Amino acid sequence: MCGGKTFYLETFGCQMNVHDSEKVIGTLLHEGYRQVETVEQADLILYNTCSIRDKAEQKVFHRLADYKKLQAEGKKFGVLGCVAQQEGEKIFDRAPHVSLVCGSASYRNLPQMLEQLETAGDTASHPSRKERGLSGAPTLTDPHDSRPRTQDSPLVRITGLDDRATDKCFETEYAARTNPHRGYITIIEGCDKFCAYCVVPFTRGKERSRTSDSVLAEARQMADLGYTEIQLLGQNVNSYKDPQGKCSFAELLAAVGEVPGIKRLRFTTSHPRDFGRDIVEAIDAVPTLCDHVHLPVQSGSNKILDAMQRLYTREAYLERIAWMKSAGRHIAITTDVIVGFPAETEDDFMQTLNLLDEVGYDGIFSFKYSPRPNTPALKLDDAIPDEEKSRRLEVLMQRQKEIQIANYKKYIGTVQEVMVEGKNDARNQWIGRTTQNKTLNFTVPDAQVPQVGTYVKVRTIQSFPNSLLGELVV
Ligand code: 5AD
Ligand code: SF4
Repeated sequence: MCGGKTFYLETFGCQMNVHDSEKVIGTLLHEGYRQVETVEQADLILYNTCSIRDKAEQKVFHRLADYKKLQAEGKKFGVLGCVAQQEGEKIFDRAPHVSLVCGSASYRNLPQMLEQLETAGDTASHPSRKERGLSGAPTLTDPHDSRPRTQDSPLVRITGLDDRATDKCFETEYAARTNPHRGYITIIEGCDKFCAYCVVPFTRGKERSRTSDSVLAEARQMADLGYTEIQLLGQNVNSYKDPQGKCSFAELLAAVGEVPGIKRLRFTTSHPRDFGRDIVEAIDAVPTLCDHVHLPVQSGSNKILDAMQRLYTREAYLERIAWMKSAGRHIAITTDVIVGFPAETEDDFMQTLNLLDEVGYDGIFSFKYSPRPNTPALKLDDAIPDEEKSRRLEVLMQRQKEIQIANYKKYIGTVQEVMVEGKNDARNQWIGRTTQNKTLNFTVPDAQVPQVGTYVKVRTIQSFPNSLLGELVV
């Protein structure tokens, strides 16, 4: 057993980051590191960061400031993910106690980088890769080692920054999935859409799809391990292009959904421009595909959609919604909305509100526009005051709450199949999730103890704006 180096990893941001962290954790465990629960216990402190909005970016710098003093104990700090890629070596200036800055397409070099950290640092206490019979010499340089070594500046500064044009993916060989029942599979990385407000094309590089063979092999492997729910991930899943040309995204959905043992298949995130009718047909045809689509709209105004460079109109978006509504199954629809994009007038905003009514979403994620580095919208005047953005956000959320109250009420009296996700001891309720991605908490008769990860039937008896309550059908 390894008593040696320990690491702590905190993840910010989206599901892509959560899954990247699972891959990073798996890689570090393979390298002989041990994961610990607190920064105080760790030799190496890693933050997998998000830069989608300014607030998310600031969080990591606050965290780094909070724990700076631990550097005196020989702890090392690493910044991974989107802030790492976006800010690059500037992070060393802002947080001089950081030793490692690494973008997501460079994670496969982490073993070499860690070896550099160990050999450059004076805390290395476990055998080198060579001693452990692992191949691959460190290839990265140490561009910032000219600074004097003081307590405030670490021995070594290592960067792994990605080229936007990279063809590399971070494979899942060692992914340490945290949930034994449902797990993610990345099918496509990066984004080529360049929406005017979005930093992702700059932090995660160009679109790279994995072969359908490797996706299917991973799905089968997960099914063999007992996973019953899979979520296919990508910034833009329906731009998926099989490099072997064997299947379309909809065909991949059907193929993964038919892997024996898989009971539920989800996918996120979809872009309306690439959302074909064949996806809805696949949902209708393959029972394991969940009755839920997340289709970010961002705005209900054609003027704003155009300024956002979203590549579709309100009408084209609503056509996709109509496909889903005419499906044989009731598909729950959720979305993302941005308020206060440059030049959004009250009338544009009203069109967004009116779109919420027209679609009748089962959930939305809503955000105030936040100017991001490198993005085309940065040259637009961010003239809408923050108070006005907050007001619009508040109005939007209130309207959506009313829609959800009405939508969720319709489930009262119905029986839903849920995957048991855990127990809320304080309420003495079990937590379940429906195929439509709704939380359905439920009570059980005294003698019954449902097993986490199994599927049970629940009769819905009460509804709330964001969840349902029911009782186990015995
Ligand atoms: N400001 C506000 N929200 C943003 N999003 C992406 N970039 C920005 C930004 N600059 C939102 C979009 C996207 C979601 C993941 O985050 O709604 O769909
Ligand atoms: Fe960002 Fe647009 Fe790409 Fe989504 S599709 S990641 S919003 S650029």
